[in-house]
Amino acid sequence: MSNAKILLAVTGGIAAYKAIDLASRLNKAGYQVRTVLTDSARKFVSPVNFSAITHNSVHTSLWDDADPIVHISLADWADLIVVAPASANTIAKAACGLANNLLSSILLAHTKPVLWVPAMNVHMYEHVATKQNMEILKSRGHHVLEPATGLLACAYTGKGKYPPNEEILYAIRTYLLYGRDLGGVTAIVSAGASVEAIDPMRMISNRSSGKMGIALARALSLRGAMVKLVYGSVNQEIPYYLHDAVQALSVEEMYDAIVPIAGNFRWIFKCAAVSDYKPASYSPQKIKKAEDLLLKLERTADILADLGRIKQDGQRLIGFAAETENLIENAKDKLLRKNLDLIVANHLENAGKDSNSISLIDKAGMPLAAQGDKFDLAHKIIDHVKTL
Ligand SMILES: Cc1cc2nc3c(=O)[nH]c(=O)nc-3n(C[C@H](O)[C@H](O)[C@H](O)COP(=O)(O)O)c2cc1C
Repeated sequence: MSNAKILLAVTGGIAAYKAIDLASRLNKAGYQVRTVLTDSARKFVSPVNFSAITHNSVHTSLWDDADPIVHISLADWADLIVVAPASANTIAKAACGLANNLLSSILLAHTKPVLWVPAMNVHMYEHVATKQNMEILKSRGHHVLEPATGLLACAYTGKGKYPPNEEILYAIRTYLLYGRDLGGVTAIVSAGASVEAIDPMRMISNRSSGKMGIALARALSLRGAMVKLVYGSVNQEIPYYLHDAVQALSVEEMYDAIVPIAGNFRWIFKCAAVSDYKPASYSPQKIKKAEDLLLKLERTADILADLGRIKQDGQRLIGFAAETENLIENAKDKLLRKNLDLIVANHLENAGKDSNSISLIDKAGMPLAAQGDKFDLAHKIIDHVKTL
């Protein structure tokens, strides 16, 4: 769907300038982009910013367009309308079904998905009127990407900040293909590398970047699941909307963060790369250099095996196997040994990369191969879990 038709609708918010970068990213990703600016948006940004970047038309008026029925033509043309930033005013107008400017008329005539990216002062965002208007839009099947929290342009600190454009692109990819099909699903995802301390400076860890687990948590959440992410050492930002995310670095911390609450979740994705061994003792002082150093290691707890042991009826346990040899055989063995419903086998050479080739192996069928970037793969894994 990367050649899908996106109608980028920019309203009159202080974050309108960030929509220029969004248009550029959409264009580079291969989407066809047309733009609508409200009159208020034009106080902040110019149509030229968008026409030059998208190489496509920018529309500002119901009355002065070359197309005599521009609101219907654009509504029919777009596979997805992205309102970014979305003002409280335009959200309210859409919730009421008003059609008194180009954008609100398009929104009324459009029959396909809409993604709203609200951005405004925290009090405007938290006003009961805005909250109710967004609920009305959601009840009609519209998607709303919640704003981030932080220092706002109006000098208040709170919720209402325009999100990173990268997250808007992930939401667009999700809503073009999948929608919010996981309402009511609860999922726990572990991601990243465990860290076992040797002394205050040294540690045992591994090369896992956390990208696959974070992509899974992101995809699950955008599709409407209630997600808890438990992450070790990762080299990526945690999506700001995963409010329940918690860091657990050692295997013991990860065990304590996952196993006692596992019964509350329908799907468990155990994606973190956890160490099989930890130092038998921790040195509170930095270990000094000597001729030889013998480091005694002991086994860590087996989180996945214990999750398999306490698995409840209807719960789905998904494990990951990264190997350098005999990938499929080793993964099948792990699937059975640990009482998993699905195992995602991948070659260690792709650790840390953005893309991967994986095999999905369940108890029923032949391994199913998939490749792509880790966000695409996350959606494919989720689709497979839905079939189990
Ligand atoms: C400097 C300035 C910044 C504004 N920023 C926002 C904003 O971030 N979010 C918002 O909802 N409204 C903001 N407004 C108010 C809107 O511009 C106003 O409600 C306008 O009617 C929105 O029109 P539109 O929805 O047709 O674009 C701002 C107004 C001004 C003067």
